[in-house]
Amino acid sequence: MNLIEEYKKQQTWRNWENYLDVIPLKNTDTVLDLGCSVGNVSHLLANKVSHVTGVDLNPDFIQFCDENKSSNEQYICSNFLDLDFSKFPCLNGLWGSFSLSYLADPKTYLDKIYMKMDKGSWIALLDVSCFISGNMNKQSKFYEKVKNFELESHKSGVYDFNFGAKLKPLLNQSGFKVIHCDESVHDVELNFNGRAKKEVLAVWRARLSRLVNLKRLLESEYFEFEREFLEYINSDSHEQRDSLQFVVAIK
Ligand SMILES: C[S@@+](CC[C@H](N)C(=O)[O-])C[C@H]1O[C@@H](n2cnc3c(N)ncnc32)[C@H](O)[C@@H]1O
Repeated sequence: MNLIEEYKKQQTWRNWENYLDVIPLKNTDTVLDLGCSVGNVSHLLANKVSHVTGVDLNPDFIQFCDENKSSNEQYICSNFLDLDFSKFPCLNGLWGSFSLSYLADPKTYLDKIYMKMDKGSWIALLDVSCFISGNMNKQSKFYEKVKNFELESHKSGVYDFNFGAKLKPLLNQSGFKVIHCDESVHDVELNFNGRAKKEVLAVWRARLSRLVNLKRLLESEYFEFEREFLEYINSDSHEQRDSLQFVVAIK
């Protein structure tokens, strides 16, 4: 499975309409989708608002989005840290799903967005919190080690595995007013009870093969961890915890 196929598959597991339902969208809104990947949320937003700009640093994703866009969508291949906000004279909404967790300093970035937005604008962020350990058997000998790895991951400045848990405090600190917060969103891939679907297992297998830093930490035991992890999410005893969080706030 290549990355575009993997991402397209994952989109079918998200109830995006349920998320959009709790956002105070207006048909006059001009919206940014940061880290838009294959563009599903951008397309859905474009049906409800005036204009959507999707931003992603992966050129393959941007090319894919460009080939599938409607007249009120545009796509920019850029690091969202390098975005020139002066090019968006009007910005009333910002969507970020599983993307601001890649920022080394999300607080400073949210401060910048807050300054840029008009009063009444909305921001909606969806992200995971400790979703590797959150899908492990708590009795596993690897559980504490993996959880600590996730809790400390923000220090790398590359990715924060526990970003979801920080959404609400970060938005409050930047001056936004939280109007909706779900601290355990049900999701068939990331936060669910019982056995994973076959296709979900395949995506988890692919993800586990990419967790370079966790591989480095667990060294030769990684294969045992991987086998145990997949076995657990494929069992009836697998349980939903608080691995996925969704917060909507307004300025
Ligand atoms: C985990 S994916 C989430 C994609 C999509 N938002 C979704 O919910 O399915 C993260 C996306 O953010 C993009 N991304 C990560 N860091 C970025 C950055 N600094 N600037 C622009 N895009 C970034 C990645 O290329 C990837 O497409």
